[in-house]
Amino acid sequence: MLRRISFLILLMCLLGLSRPGAASGVDEILRAYDMKPNIRNGEKVYAKCVSCHHDKGWGKEDGSVPVIGGQYAKVLIRQMADIRSLSKEDNPEMYAQADPDKIGGAQAIADVSAYIASMAGDANTSKGRGDQLELGKNLYEAKCRQCHGDQAQGDVLDFVPKLKGQHYAYLLRRIQWIGSGNKKNSKPIMVIRTKSLSAKEMEAVADYISRM
Ligand code: HEC
Ligand code: HEC
Repeated sequence: MLRRISFLILLMCLLGLSRPGAASGVDEILRAYDMKPNIRNGEKVYAKCVSCHHDKGWGKEDGSVPVIGGQYAKVLIRQMADIRSLSKEDNPEMYAQADPDKIGGAQAIADVSAYIASMAGDANTSKGRGDQLELGKNLYEAKCRQCHGDQAQGDVLDFVPKLKGQHYAYLLRRIQWIGSGNKKNSKPIMVIRTKSLSAKEMEAVADYISRM
């Protein structure tokens, strides 16, 4: 009994320490779903993102910064909320950028997401070695296509991101992270299926997706 109570107290302390700041930022971001976006203002807000994400949303070829141009607005909003709800350790560079205090409130977030979504998303992306594409295709079709779609186009209604047109190194890093079980708010089925992949299989599936 005593152990249970002290466990509960410990849990409350932990939640109390980590929750308030992050949670309020997340609520603020999620209010953007219901707002009518102003793309022209979004372009202005995007000036704060250009230095890392490129003026066309192409990110960096080494995969350190993802392609975001052409991603669905709803997914972008969700990704920014995710970044806030995880921790600084998970997203060291983006954590500060996704802060409503820095970008602006929900309206600015709706605006910048609509602007990014309107970009062509035709980045010249980096690819993998290309020597195990058959394996990558089989794995994608068996384990990922169900949610991510035939062309890795995602599904905006279900908040599934578009993966096509993304840098190989970024995809691989994210797949490894999902497979490590450390990304806290991923769909359980995706985590189970990604965990079942070997290191070589993760490379193969990331390479296949990077060419879709
Ligand atoms: C200092 C560099 C930097 C700036 C400025 C920056 N970002 Fe990022 N952003 C990153 C990095 C690095 C990542 C990848 C994080 C990772 O892989 O953990 C990222 C990831 C993202 C993602 C998540 C993509 C995904 O696949 O989950 C979104 C959305 C995003 N940024 C939007 C923005 C917006 C909008 C702005 C401007 C308001 C912005 N970023 C400004 C560096 C930056
Ligand atoms: C049950 C549906 C489902 C399945 C199956 C699934 N995914 Fe996902 N995936 C999602 C959803 C929803 C998201 C967005 C939320 C998140 O990050 O968990 C996502 C996000 C991702 C991301 C992160 C994109 C980004 O920019 O942050 C990658 C990479 C990814 N999935 C790869 C895969 C791969 C590879 C497989 C197959 C081994 C797979 N997924 C299977 C639903 C799924």
